[in-house]
Amino acid sequence: MITRAPIAVIIFCAVIIQAVDKSNFKTCSQSGFCKRQRDHKPAESQYRALLDAVEIGPSAIKVHLVNKQNSAKLLLEVFALQDNTVRVKINDLEPNKLRYEIPVGDVLVQEPQQASLQVHSKDSSHMKLKVQDNTVILYASPFHMDFLSSDTPVMSLNSQGLLKYEQYRSKSKNEAAEDKPVDGVDENPGEEQEKEEENTAEEPDMWEETFKTHQDSKPYGPSSVGMDISFPGFEFVYGIPEHADDLALKSTKDTDPYRLYNLDVFEYELNNPMALYGSVPYMIAHNEEKSVGVFWQNAAETWIDIRSNTADRGMFSKLVDFVKGDDKIPQVDTHWFSESGIIDMFIMLGPQPKDVFRQYGLLTGTTPLPPLFALAYHQCRWNYNDEHDVASVDAGFDEHDIPVDVIWLDIEHTDGRRYFTWDAHKFPHSDEMIRNVSAKGRKMVTIVDPHIKKDSNYFICQQFQDRDLFIKNKDDSIYDGWCWPGSSYYPDFTDPKVREFWASKFHTDEYKGSTNDLHIWNDMNEPSVFNGPEVTMHKDAKHMNGWEHRDVHNVYGLYVHRATYEGIKLRGGNNHRPFVLSRAFYAGSQRYGAVWTGDNKADWTHLKISMPMLLTLNLVGLTQSGADVGGFFTNPEPELLTRWYQAASYQPFFRAHAHLDTRRREPWLQPPDHKQVTREAIRTRYRLLPYWYTVFQENEATGMPVMRPLWVEFPKEKETFRIEDTFMIGSSLLVRPVTDAGMTSVSVYLPGQDQVWYDRDTWQMKNGGQQVLVNVNLQKAKNMLSSQIPVFQRGGSIIPQKTRIRRSSILMADDPYTLIVALDKKNALSSFSWKTDFLSFISKRQQGHAKGDLYEDDYYSFRYKNGQYIKRRFTFANSKLSSSDIHSGGISMKSNAWIERVIVVGYAQHPSSVGLSTGSKQSDLSFDYDSERRVLTIRKPGININEDFTITVQ
Ligand SMILES: *[C@@H]1O[C@H](CO)[C@@H](O)[C@H](O)[C@H]1NC(C)=O
Repeated sequence: MITRAPIAVIIFCAVIIQAVDKSNFKTCSQSGFCKRQRDHKPAESQYRALLDAVEIGPSAIKVHLVNKQNSAKLLLEVFALQDNTVRVKINDLEPNKLRYEIPVGDVLVQEPQQASLQVHSKDSSHMKLKVQDNTVILYASPFHMDFLSSDTPVMSLNSQGLLKYEQYRSKSKNEAAEDKPVDGVDENPGEEQEKEEENTAEEPDMWEETFKTHQDSKPYGPSSVGMDISFPGFEFVYGIPEHADDLALKSTKDTDPYRLYNLDVFEYELNNPMALYGSVPYMIAHNEEKSVGVFWQNAAETWIDIRSNTADRGMFSKLVDFVKGDDKIPQVDTHWFSESGIIDMFIMLGPQPKDVFRQYGLLTGTTPLPPLFALAYHQCRWNYNDEHDVASVDAGFDEHDIPVDVIWLDIEHTDGRRYFTWDAHKFPHSDEMIRNVSAKGRKMVTIVDPHIKKDSNYFICQQFQDRDLFIKNKDDSIYDGWCWPGSSYYPDFTDPKVREFWASKFHTDEYKGSTNDLHIWNDMNEPSVFNGPEVTMHKDAKHMNGWEHRDVHNVYGLYVHRATYEGIKLRGGNNHRPFVLSRAFYAGSQRYGAVWTGDNKADWTHLKISMPMLLTLNLVGLTQSGADVGGFFTNPEPELLTRWYQAASYQPFFRAHAHLDTRRREPWLQPPDHKQVTREAIRTRYRLLPYWYTVFQENEATGMPVMRPLWVEFPKEKETFRIEDTFMIGSSLLVRPVTDAGMTSVSVYLPGQDQVWYDRDTWQMKNGGQQVLVNVNLQKAKNMLSSQIPVFQRGGSIIPQKTRIRRSSILMADDPYTLIVALDKKNALSSFSWKTDFLSFISKRQQGHAKGDLYEDDYYSFRYKNGQYIKRRFTFANSKLSSSDIHSGGISMKSNAWIERVIVVGYAQHPSSVGLSTGSKQSDLSFDYDSERRVLTIRKPGININEDFTITVQ
């Protein structure tokens, strides 16, 4: 939720600001280190690797790097890690002051497992290392490194010579004397001065920096680190959220670099590299042959420049700096720099998309399987006013026969924005209210933000202050910032003691008026500070062990999210899966639950951008992500709201939300035709929940994203590399939302030359490798077939779904399944009508194949971790559908759900009989065959989902 204009604007002018006030946020040229790093020229500091004195261990090497100009020394460490991954760390050799490193276990799940490293060859000019199937070549002078994946160069470090390391140092006399603004760069630095230290050329903002009215005291001076990373052979790079921008990252030659600095941006602008609420410094490069990834583990403000010799071609007149080499081979060059910390890179060498997802998942973790309700529909607004309002919204869904799983309360539910409390007039019986809602299997969520109202009568403030758990100013007084409650303190979530204490506050004994069916939403955790620089915390504020806010800024939100997650987990005796939504995030936030794209707007452009934004989040592990349905700010017209529901019903986190100043927009308030379509969109989500749940389980196990760009499934098909209006859910569903007004048809690209696709509304089959036009006319809402958005099931897949829609997802737990078996391309060749037995036999053989999985458990507890789940694989081949147990330890949970129907689409000829065989019985099944649509419907197999079976079509 929520940001607002600077507080002064709210107080002094009752004007609604219409768009982002860009002047609140720094451009690169207003940021000292960004300017210094971006303007850095390779010749200014070349490094040499001292290969004669390399230390070689079984899985790592250590080498000193010496700056040729000033003899400053760095330590380079290269670690071979399991699963085609290499870590490259560059730190001070003899630091004046330790540099911040994120503790292992906080972003990295654990100390990464090392693998063996062989020195293939070595002399004083270079050294060749073997790591599994990959080669790493380290060149001594100038220092740079190449990475080859089975002999193909895929990445290089410092090949442009942009390594720049600002070492901590004491303020020199010279600088102390000149402690006032100096004009620009030092003119004419003398010979001796140049030899002294790389950083001697001082700039006015090295020892303090002013932005608007805010001063950053920079007590330790300049400390930034930067380096270039090139991707030879690649044209496309992805990742580094959060930006309101395209899926395929763009050249930043004519803009600022992409910025990563968690910020609360009021009405953000689209298609630019400005920072938003979260930061994941992780980039994936992909081409037809290979995928590789690089994770830059640094929690400070970071900027990334991108150049591409293909995208930047044709602009040669302006083309400067760092693209070099043969431009017949595509290459993307990137330049990364952070304000403090060390250089710590994880290079994931794929070679395929699925490998890169697994490799990144091994490092930073995957999303623990969410409770089923988290994947269902969420209804939120700032604010549901009181208990009666909640009761009537809850009842409204039942009256209009629309399912919902979670009702949310924003900041106004509290006593004066004191989190963990309730407004006594509006919510006098909050626990009863929650129980009333949860009696229908539903849940509630309240907002709990990390700013704590400064109020000695507020127990949370008091307890945290007594224990000395708040962030400090540089003079050790408590940091005091303005946020929703007015003057507020901020717990230091980087400290494990703070997280533990915070977590204990969620117990129902502490959080009075709550129940175990209440889950949590952490907003404003960038952190947002209305009167702070760029609406966030001062960089010289102090955290645990004296670390500056500068060092930890981008990881603060993850720590808030984590502490809350641990609190809810603890509250449920470590056995109930928590649901916690966070606005700020960092790499690893996926382990604590959901994120969303913050304060978007009721505008078609915002609906459209939600697709690339969520695809990018999914690529970097944040798979449980969504955008506010309808747009947070302003009022959507009915068509926009309806299209938004249709799109979001196919996005991983599905929540409607709206600003305080907007009109009410619960789904049944739509005009009748639109209401009908909206209702259908939400119900379709519930129909497909078994599939969503199965795909989320796959994500936890393998790191494969839930919402996937087409190229993840069709990695060799270059046509897909830029597509962001169409995506996959899992490997089996292709979705193309409608994101423009007045559309009656849209064109959809169906990938895969040897692939067929089935329209989920009509079961009409289409060949892959082409654009198809699909009717999406909303005006014909009564004819549901033409009011849907294009969704196709991939030939060769089997999707489990449920057809009886109830009030909430958990009420459907024991309901029977329908399997949709979509046959692959082989079938298209097989419309034989010859009547001999032999040919009929052959044609059966050619009826096509399909397979798919189903995962099921109790939908709410952690018992699945002990094997309490069901996992089945359905296979259709040779006209036989069979189900087998693929639980790693054999069946270990009993389900009440059974299979009530099997629909085989793309089945080419009328069967004469359908028989079922299980371990205990054989029987005939009744069926229908629609020869025009080629759909075979097999009725009432009546098999419990636990049972092995074979259905044979004759
Ligand atoms: C809970 O439901 C009961 C029965 O409908 C109703 O009388 C009561 O007012 C509800 N309580 C709240 C707090 O909504």
